[in-house]
Amino acid sequence: MSAQPLNGRRVLVIGGALSDLAKGPLDGAILELGGLDRLIGVGLADADLIIIDADAWGGPALAAGIQALALCPAPPPVLMVGTHLPTAVVRNLLRIERSDVLDAPYSHENIAAAIEALLASKPANPVVAPTGDVARCWAVTGAVGGSGATTIAIEIATELCNRSDKDKSVCLIDLNLADGSAAAYLGSSPAMRLGDLGRSVDKLDVAMLQAFITPVTKQLDLLAATRDPLAFDSVPAESILRMLEVACDTYEWVVIDMPRHRRAWTVQALSGCDEILVTSELTVPALLAARSLSDEIERDISSGKKPRIVLNRLAGRMFGPAPSMAEAERALQRKAEAGISSDWEAAAASVNLGGPIATHRPKSKIVKDVQVLVRRLAAEPALRDGKASRAA
Ligand SMILES: Nc1ncnc2c1ncn2[C@@H]1O[C@H](COP(=O)(O)OP(=O)(O)OP(=O)(O)O)[C@@H](O)[C@H]1O
Ligand SMILES: [Mg+2]
Repeated sequence: MSAQPLNGRRVLVIGGALSDLAKGPLDGAILELGGLDRLIGVGLADADLIIIDADAWGGPALAAGIQALALCPAPPPVLMVGTHLPTAVVRNLLRIERSDVLDAPYSHENIAAAIEALLASKPANPVVAPTGDVARCWAVTGAVGGSGATTIAIEIATELCNRSDKDKSVCLIDLNLADGSAAAYLGSSPAMRLGDLGRSVDKLDVAMLQAFITPVTKQLDLLAATRDPLAFDSVPAESILRMLEVACDTYEWVVIDMPRHRRAWTVQALSGCDEILVTSELTVPALLAARSLSDEIERDISSGKKPRIVLNRLAGRMFGPAPSMAEAERALQRKAEAGISSDWEAAAASVNLGGPIATHRPKSKIVKDVQVLVRRLAAEPALRDGKASRAA
């Protein structure tokens, strides 16, 4: 084993008896001692390696702990050591990617070799870090509540997946930290732990980001947090901006479901976006709000990008000579970028079934309208200069 490979690495030791390894194979590591409950939701933000002392726990408790570990989206590598290990527990452990077992008798050298092999192994399905290119990043924000920002962000992300042949090409990020609905609309479980995100600004890298990700399809990853009324106050702006930066270094496309109310990080995040879409309904208050919000964004961001207004839930009559559309544009004092048809049945069916409208109602006009929008925006040149401003 090379000299002190664990120097400065965080090792979570489950079962205190193993702390005597600190002077041997764990030399130089930052040790955290924990119980089996520490395995619930554990990820790379918590530890670089987990070592479990199987002898410290009864069979049923150990089995439950391993099961909890197996449910984690991206657990750290794990080594279990013990005497007469229960076969069922061992089999469950070995189903976890990057895991190993040592049954007694074993030496410190055996442990050191197992640790070295675990740390050297890469996850089979890592977040793809594409070639140093920076993602194209589009943000969607609503002029008024309920105007369809989340729906349109999801459909845009889905259409971008259709246009790419790479796995893990698109990341949808729900920055409505307090009460985002993207995960619920997609029928997925949010995996971003805001406490860990807040603490890990210096350490956040591609591997750690993976611990926060919910894979939705082979191509689409979701970054979303569980509801937390205090989230906007508890997560520092630097952490959000760092997360966006890492996501943009990792994916081909990043789509942000952006909260309507301004946060400490809003202007910097929007300054780094290639496109900013403001969704509005066709009501006078919504159109006036869309105009004000677009003006504010344009005034404050550094990229000089003009937000584009997307009129959502257009009823059939809007597709004629469209006096209402003309009136809308008069109220907006600018042209609308696109219109998205109204289709309540398709929108409701997809959220109730969990998944994009493009999956559950692929013939919906919403899907076609989003395709047209994405095709047009994707043909625009990417914003390159703005990327630097995303960094904290
Ligand atoms: N084009 C559409 N046709 C019919 N229904 C739609 C359409 N777009 C969105 N909806 C529905 O409108 C409701 C609000 O949409 P959504 O949650 O996407 O809006 P939002 O702007 O993200 O809301 P919030 O302000 O709560 O974040 C949802 O029930 C959604 O299914
Ligand atoms: Mg929303």
